[in-house]
Amino acid sequence: MEHPLVVMEGIEKSFPGVQALKQGRFELRSGEVHALCGENGAGKSTLMKILAGIYPKDAGRVMVGGEEVTLSSPGAALKRGISIIHQELNLMPHLTVAQNIFIGREPTRGLRFWLDEQELNARTAALFERMHLKLDPQAIVGDLTIAMQQMVEIAKALSYNARVLIMDEPTAALTDTEIADLFTLIRQLRTHGTGIVHISHRLEELKQIADRVTVMRDGQYIDTLPIAEASIERIIRLMVGRTIYEERPSRPNLGETAPLLEVRGLSRGRAVQNVSFTLRRGEIVGISGLIGAGRTELARLIFGADRKERGEIVIAGRTVNINRPSDAVRHGIGYLSEDRKHFGLATGLNVEVNIAMAAFQKFLAPLGVVRQSAVEGNAIRHVRDLAIKTPSLQQEVRFLSGGNQQKVVIGKWLTADTEILIFDEPTRGIDVGAKAEIYKLMNELAARGKAILMISSELPEILRMSHRILVMCEGRLTGELRSDEATQERIMAFATQREAVL
Ligand SMILES: Nc1ncnc2c1ncn2[C@@H]1O[C@H](COP(=O)(O)OP(=O)(O)OP(=O)(O)O)[C@@H](O)[C@H]1O
Ligand SMILES: [Mg+2]
Repeated sequence: MEHPLVVMEGIEKSFPGVQALKQGRFELRSGEVHALCGENGAGKSTLMKILAGIYPKDAGRVMVGGEEVTLSSPGAALKRGISIIHQELNLMPHLTVAQNIFIGREPTRGLRFWLDEQELNARTAALFERMHLKLDPQAIVGDLTIAMQQMVEIAKALSYNARVLIMDEPTAALTDTEIADLFTLIRQLRTHGTGIVHISHRLEELKQIADRVTVMRDGQYIDTLPIAEASIERIIRLMVGRTIYEERPSRPNLGETAPLLEVRGLSRGRAVQNVSFTLRRGEIVGISGLIGAGRTELARLIFGADRKERGEIVIAGRTVNINRPSDAVRHGIGYLSEDRKHFGLATGLNVEVNIAMAAFQKFLAPLGVVRQSAVEGNAIRHVRDLAIKTPSLQQEVRFLSGGNQQKVVIGKWLTADTEILIFDEPTRGIDVGAKAEIYKLMNELAARGKAILMISSELPEILRMSHRILVMCEGRLTGELRSDEATQERIMAFATQREAVL
């Protein structure tokens, strides 16, 4: 019998204060898509980083093609045909797309160090064509949206012709259309015998793409099931060891209260064109649209992260001047960025400082002394309420799992206690249990009179959470729907500007 591509057994891994893996186990066959599931902090990324040669294991065996191997570096893993797409993006923002993809192995012409830029761009264009991706190889990565950057990461991993392709939450930042393209690509790779590890918190998508599912809990292997036997309910039960009950809250009628936030004719280049809308206290307004529709750009303008070219922002009836994020915070606007690494968190600082960060003046005694006990008390409360998994409040945020980092950002804006909250992809990378918690929290915040703007690429989330739904396409607002009239089809029709099929 043919050997599996990869077998991992008895894998142990500890970090200071945390045992991330105990008796980790995993098997990958040629030509299969193998989903890896588990709650935030279950050890999925750690197990795969060991396979990709990023972390050394403390104990256990890794076999590739039936042969025990030592994967001492990412380079060693690549040589064995193992390629990983990380959960957090790892691109060089100042380089072009093509340069990022071929970094360290650029084609050269004539003299060895004479970089053949043309060849580089041509190869990248060919790769994109295979991926059905419309992206300029010469675009600067830092100018791209997170979703586009994600596609660049995927392209980069594919360019190695990997036998084993590990995708750590590749779809978290993508919309349905892009996910469909990615899945087409995965199916192609599968028929060529590549084994694919797919880590995702979007359990609905497993049915579409996975052949088998392995579930982990608290660093341990729980079970592996063929997809036919893995209902979503069963996966969740294995993941959390309990059943999660989700309730759709009733939407109170807000009547005709005056808007708290009014955006009038906001514009910046092609990204945001003449956008106007209102947001009332107690209301959750969802913003839907495809990647590149201008949703995050709109949020950044309101928050003052970018300068608007035209338009007005009115809060409680008064026009306000917002030129930088600190102005926005002063006027009561908080922004949970989709890009937690660059905007949401100071990843080199610890958990309690990050949670206190947007509201530091709250924690200052006279003479500017920081009241450490208050910082700590506040952090303890949010770590508890949000069930943030961390060995201590002093842990640097960069060592937390992806989902737990996201929860720290939420804790930070809850501490700032702003009246208007912009949530940009709030549940990206968050496990099912925590997701239900975050929805509950958002509903509670709205019930307490906060005004919430929620950008989300997940249509079920938009439909579930919003009182009203705004749809953007190519920088403009193309539709508005009340929650009782909204359907996935109608939203998609506005998002692609097709005539709505009613
Ligand atoms: N470099 C590190 N230093 C310290 N602790 C770490 C490090 N990497 C991971 N951990 C810890 O190991 C545990 C497992 O983390 P891991 O990132 O593997 O979880 P995950 O299953 O990928 O979670 P998520 O779904 O949130 O991405 C967590 O408790 C995490 O805080
Ligand atoms: Mg992870």
